[in-house]
Amino acid sequence: MVLYTRPPRLEALEGDPLSAARFVVVPVFQSKGDGEAKPLIEGLAARADEAVGGALSRAVEAGLFRGSAGETLTAFTGDGRVVVFAGAGEKGAEPWRLAENARASAAAAVKALVEKAGEVALPASEYGEAALEAVVGALLGAYRFEAFKSERKAKLSRVLADLPRERLEEALALAEGVYLARDIANAPPHEVAPPRLAERLRDLFSRLDRVEVEVFDYDRLVREGFGGIVNVGRGSDEKPRLIIVRYNGGEGDPVAIVGKTIVFDSGGINLKPSHMMFEMRADKAGGAAAAGIAWAAARLGLPVNLVALIPAAINVPSGSSYLPSDVVRMWDGTYVEVTNTDAEGRLVIADAIAYAAKQIGASEIIDLATLTGAAWIALGPLYAALFTRDDKLARALEEASRRTGERLWRLPLVDEYKAMLGKKAPLGDVANAAMRAGGAICAALFLERFAHGKRWAHLDIAGPGIASDAGPMAPKYWPQGLAPGWGVRLIIDYLRSRGSGASG
Ligand code: BES
Ligand code: MN
Ligand code: ZN
Repeated sequence: MVLYTRPPRLEALEGDPLSAARFVVVPVFQSKGDGEAKPLIEGLAARADEAVGGALSRAVEAGLFRGSAGETLTAFTGDGRVVVFAGAGEKGAEPWRLAENARASAAAAVKALVEKAGEVALPASEYGEAALEAVVGALLGAYRFEAFKSERKAKLSRVLADLPRERLEEALALAEGVYLARDIANAPPHEVAPPRLAERLRDLFSRLDRVEVEVFDYDRLVREGFGGIVNVGRGSDEKPRLIIVRYNGGEGDPVAIVGKTIVFDSGGINLKPSHMMFEMRADKAGGAAAAGIAWAAARLGLPVNLVALIPAAINVPSGSSYLPSDVVRMWDGTYVEVTNTDAEGRLVIADAIAYAAKQIGASEIIDLATLTGAAWIALGPLYAALFTRDDKLARALEEASRRTGERLWRLPLVDEYKAMLGKKAPLGDVANAAMRAGGAICAALFLERFAHGKRWAHLDIAGPGIASDAGPMAPKYWPQGLAPGWGVRLIIDYLRSRGSGASG
């Protein structure tokens, strides 16, 4: 069973961390200043250093440990305990930097132990303001996708952290959402083919209160005119589904989260070249994030109404595939001329966006989509492209992004470029693909008309949603070579800031 990997259990750490478990993480900050940063061996770090016979100070003297975030040093006490000193970066750095360092630091320490220790003590309060982020980092660092490994190596089943119960619950809820997003994004396509994904999500979400799952099957999608979803998905024997997860946690019109869920993107009749095609199993990272967001929101009990729309389809060539030059009638009546079957994502989410705007009555719509190679080429694996007309929404998302470390760069919606979408569609209203230059912008402009004037933001997560090329650039709390579950913590943070009025 792929869905769904559980994070380690999270329990209260009481008393002296150095004697709370056999494996202990000990954060080590660096001194601030203009000179060379030096590790600060004080407080718990000093006591731990003593317990391991001065191994830390000697490593520092030898220049083998500097205390930068993500660095680790493993040492042993006389009574058989294992201490992992975890570099935590500069003391007193800016809050966003402290948070990112705490996540990386705890994740690196846990990664060093995940195959060895069943239980780890994490004195999170050592990270000060960033204590919660350290716990989140530890849980995220413990993630392993081992459903298809004959031998399971991850051993870690329990993390002990010194935070109040509610804060531990909070960290766990966030980690669960990210784990769910990772599992879906990384799952082999047939494990989560649209009908199966729908059943699995229905099953999974039935465990939560105030959550309803509705699944539109193929007949219904055809009957109700979801031409984008139906046409993209019809080439596969595994027909598309629209999965709608509603979390009713508050009052007022819901926020809609739309996630591109192309379970596999071969390009369709406009077949992709084969060398990197297999990466396209993560072309469902947007929908995976939407599911993770709904999960985390419900587990946190956020006081909002949320609707996650997960249009799932497989884009493959066959005798029943949609064809280049087909004209597709979308759910909202727009006629789209298909100039390229590989520009499938925008068709699928355009239907879901229009449905959110006109049928669900969303107050605002945020979509996440591994939409264009252009966004990936422009920004690489660490940044998503943000598009919106709404400066306030952009600012709120950018602020959330700073706090969670899921980085965004705003790109413009260039009105003049819209002309090309029409020009390339002699038969229909618009073409699904018009020009290579500015590809991410053109895709965003295409989507915009389907939001029908509703407040809307589009996150093109082609880089960080997949991130298989992130390698040594990736934060320590991302899984090596796998999709990191990008966007879950970001959108949850945004929803909370919205609730508290922090961003107006
Ligand atoms: N899923 C891809 C975009 C993608 C490519 C994401 C590489 C991550 C890495 C999307 O469906 C696609 O194929 N887009 C085309 C659009 C083009 C045909 C207009 C692209 O970007 O090349
Ligand atoms: Mn494609
Ligand atoms: Zn795609």
